[in-house]
Amino acid sequence: MEKGERKNVYQVYNKIGDWFAENRYADSVERAYLDAIIEQLPPIASMLDVGCGNGKPILEYFITHNIRAVGIDGSEKMIELARNNFPDTRLMLLDMRQMQLGEKFDVIIAWHSFFHLPAEDQPAMFEVFRDHLKPDGFLLFTSGTERGEAWGMNGGENLFHASLATEEYRLLLESNHFVVLKHQVNDPDCGGANVWMAKYKPQ
Ligand SMILES: C[S@@+](CC[C@H](N)C(=O)[O-])C[C@H]1O[C@@H](n2cnc3c(N)ncnc32)[C@H](O)[C@@H]1O
Repeated sequence: MEKGERKNVYQVYNKIGDWFAENRYADSVERAYLDAIIEQLPPIASMLDVGCGNGKPILEYFITHNIRAVGIDGSEKMIELARNNFPDTRLMLLDMRQMQLGEKFDVIIAWHSFFHLPAEDQPAMFEVFRDHLKPDGFLLFTSGTERGEAWGMNGGENLFHASLATEEYRLLLESNHFVVLKHQVNDPDCGGANVWMAKYKPQ
């Protein structure tokens, strides 16, 4: 199958947005991770969903827990779907690499979105995450485990994914003042996702 967009994978989601919205597993298999974070949040808290897609189910889960949720996504189509789902939520069309919101959140989630960035763009994202997190804020994201790229058919499009090695992620997290709370490789409850949960502990 022909390989497509590598640099701005969000553009492909403009074509497959409806397919994605219909086919993404609806029951929140990520719930255990989300709950582990939510139960540690202060009574008034905020979350930023990076690459929020149509907002279901992750953004929605935070909204239903009365947590102020903000979403960004690079795809016009995905933001349109998210706005239809959550008209009262702040949702922005934005490439995560350009994110400079000038505000800090208690939680940042980049579930199955960060891994669409080319490997050379991933290290700088930890600084971007840091700039948008309060001290003791949580970062939850998924990645691969080995340096390289992978392609996968989704909605008739061959989608690009890239990864650094696990040890590289560990070092990046550490050098950006994150403490790793959990690193689950190949979580069978989440379709084999490799999940990182970390806490921002600035010095
Ligand atoms: C597999 S979907 C995941 C959506 C959502 N996080 C979820 O769990 O359902 C990946 C999303 O990441 C977005 N995305 C990919 N690259 C991006 C980038 N550079 N900046 C912002 N969003 C991006 C895509 O447009 C798409 O909505």
